[in-house]
Amino acid sequence: MTAEIIDGKAFAATVREKVAGHVARLKEKHGITPGLAVVLVGEDPASQVYVRSKGKQTVEVGMNSYEHKLDADTSEADLLSLIDQLNNDPAVHGILVQLPLPDHLNSDLVINSIDPVKDVDGFHISNVGLLGTGQKSMVPCTPLGCLMMLRDRHGSLSGLNAVVLGRSNIVGKPMAQLLLGDSCTVTIAHSRTKDLPEVVRGADIVVAAVGRPQMVPGDWIKPGATVIDVGINRIEKPEGGTRLVGDVDFASAGAVAGAITPVPGGVGPMTIACLLANTLTACCRANALAEPDGLTA
Ligand code: GUN
Repeated sequence: MTAEIIDGKAFAATVREKVAGHVARLKEKHGITPGLAVVLVGEDPASQVYVRSKGKQTVEVGMNSYEHKLDADTSEADLLSLIDQLNNDPAVHGILVQLPLPDHLNSDLVINSIDPVKDVDGFHISNVGLLGTGQKSMVPCTPLGCLMMLRDRHGSLSGLNAVVLGRSNIVGKPMAQLLLGDSCTVTIAHSRTKDLPEVVRGADIVVAAVGRPQMVPGDWIKPGATVIDVGINRIEKPEGGTRLVGDVDFASAGAVAGAITPVPGGVGPMTIACLLANTLTACCRANALAEPDGLTA
């Protein structure tokens, strides 16, 4: 292993400390406590784990956490009515509807019913448009976490070649917009890209978000490149049991890259830390207060 390992767990802890410091000052100077409402519909086990973790970390940084757990058969009208109530609640600065929603609910309709200034996931169509046109927006948490780690390593990203693997609305597309905003030359590669290895070999920055275990081998990586692995894939171990791996083959890529995020312990912990940062940002904007430095795009 020649690459520096980017410790996402430690980085996320630093982000949470910064958020907690700002929250304490907001309370002391302005009597304001940021509040995050998380809505979970149904009993998807992975979603339950995420929501519990979000609630716990929200409280740990000194914010108010409001959890709304609804039955799997909740009607769209009832869900929209709850969102309307949260949109109009001044104690709630951020609203997150945990995805995936049960099949009978229209996710786009639900997400677009959130007040864009409270849309801490950055999934509302207005925020997508604002980000795409370089205007102030709420930015999706996972790409924001990746951007923070890249800025920390490189300082300026200007002029670097960045290849984003994957074109999802949650990671790939917003990641590409953020890198473009920092003046990278950006390529979005995907399953139909021709000569993918050659495309990736040109990258100073690789962000892999395709959901295919260990798809990117070390011989696709330019020596010294920074590799950000967003993938979280569970695979069978030869000796039995399972383990988590990323979209990048960590062992071979780590022998070539300049820096690499591990899985687990890389991008993963940054997502919730950035959710807290976004909630703080939304609270500052709602109260016309200065936004925290280093916690936004
Ligand atoms: N489910 C998995 N990841 C996410 C996320 O980032 N936001 C929401 N709302 N749901 C998710």
